Amino acid sequence: MGRPMLVDSVPDSPILSLIEQVFRLRAAGHPVLSLHIGEPDFETPVGIREAASRAMREGLTHYVAAQGMPDLRAAIADRESARHHVPAGPDDVVVLPAKFGIYASVLATAAPGDDVLLPDPTYLFDAPIRLAGARPISFPLRADFSLDPAALDAAVTPRSKLLFLVTPANPTGRTLRRDELRAVLGIARDRGLTVVSDETYASLVYEGSHLATASVGDGTVPIVTLGSFSKAFAMTGWRAGYAIAPSPIRERLVKVVEHTLTCVPPFVQRACLWALQHADGDTTRFREKFRERRDHLLNRMDDLPGLRCVRPEGAFYLFPSYDLKMPSREFAARLLDEERLAIVPGVAFGSRGEGHVRISYTSPIDVLDEGMERLGRFLESHGARRG
Ligand SMILES: Cc1ncc(COP(=O)(O)O)c(C=O)c1O
Repeated sequence: MGRPMLVDSVPDSPILSLIEQVFRLRAAGHPVLSLHIGEPDFETPVGIREAASRAMREGLTHYVAAQGMPDLRAAIADRESARHHVPAGPDDVVVLPAKFGIYASVLATAAPGDDVLLPDPTYLFDAPIRLAGARPISFPLRADFSLDPAALDAAVTPRSKLLFLVTPANPTGRTLRRDELRAVLGIARDRGLTVVSDETYASLVYEGSHLATASVGDGTVPIVTLGSFSKAFAMTGWRAGYAIAPSPIRERLVKVVEHTLTCVPPFVQRACLWALQHADGDTTRFREKFRERRDHLLNRMDDLPGLRCVRPEGAFYLFPSYDLKMPSREFAARLLDEERLAIVPGVAFGSRGEGHVRISYTSPIDVLDEGMERLGRFLESHGARRG
């Protein structure tokens, strides 16, 4: 027997597997309600789609530079520096899907066998860290999902090279505060860590404005900022985002793209440029809708027995805990089976996510209401208590 393969050391994505299960149930005629999906329910704005069509008609259908097209890199650098105070010029930007950027960042900052730190609970960084040959080491967030600098410090090992942060966070919706970031960057500096800050949801902050990790840094800690067109412009299927990284991480990221993706398709890049130049109004419209749904859902949740939720400040998820003696995988499986409602088990985001579920508010309010009916019925039938 050969040695185990890296790819066999990671499970299938819990969310993508759930999506397949929902498709199967629907195909069999079951009225499944989906509150598990992490993508806006809005169409990609028509102007963005037309920009892609125009680019195709103009013949932008061949390979382009791995780092990304210069006009798009310039527009990304302008936006990030003007809006979020991320120090960036066009040469600092690498165009890639944010999720690929997670994997590529590990390849660009850690050697095989090195340790990579990540909060618990957090987005699905664990699998790409393993796929890149590194070892994930998690450290617990506090009960309100804030970062505990002492817990981070205690988790650092001699082989720790990289720390993942996400703000606003999936699955908790929490945003990182300036004092938290200062403390964490102090530890990163003292322990020689690079920081990757996943800011995929930067456009979806409901309280105040987005605080970028790189805007708090003083240049002593290498910080990679990941951004995405997916959520800001309802472009999840286009596979476009970016990394902003200092040298030599940036050159390594470009090398990873050269040898894997080659490039993000040029007509997609042209559409992204159009989005940055013309589609801010759409982003605002999406944000206002999501805010309205968040507030509605939080109110509805108050009426359900046994749920407790930290108020999310960004992204489009609620991550309540529930008062039932049932592991979250069983909770999700039985909820799908008994009420035909799909949500994501909290344990998918780390062991500290156990006892929670993730609910997406990427559906219209009437669908969310129906989902809360079904969830309430499920909780009651399993004996959850009020108060
Ligand atoms: C925190 C986080 N990062 C990255 C991604 C993926 O972004 P992209 O579509 O640009 O690959 C997601 C998608 O759900 C996410 O939640």
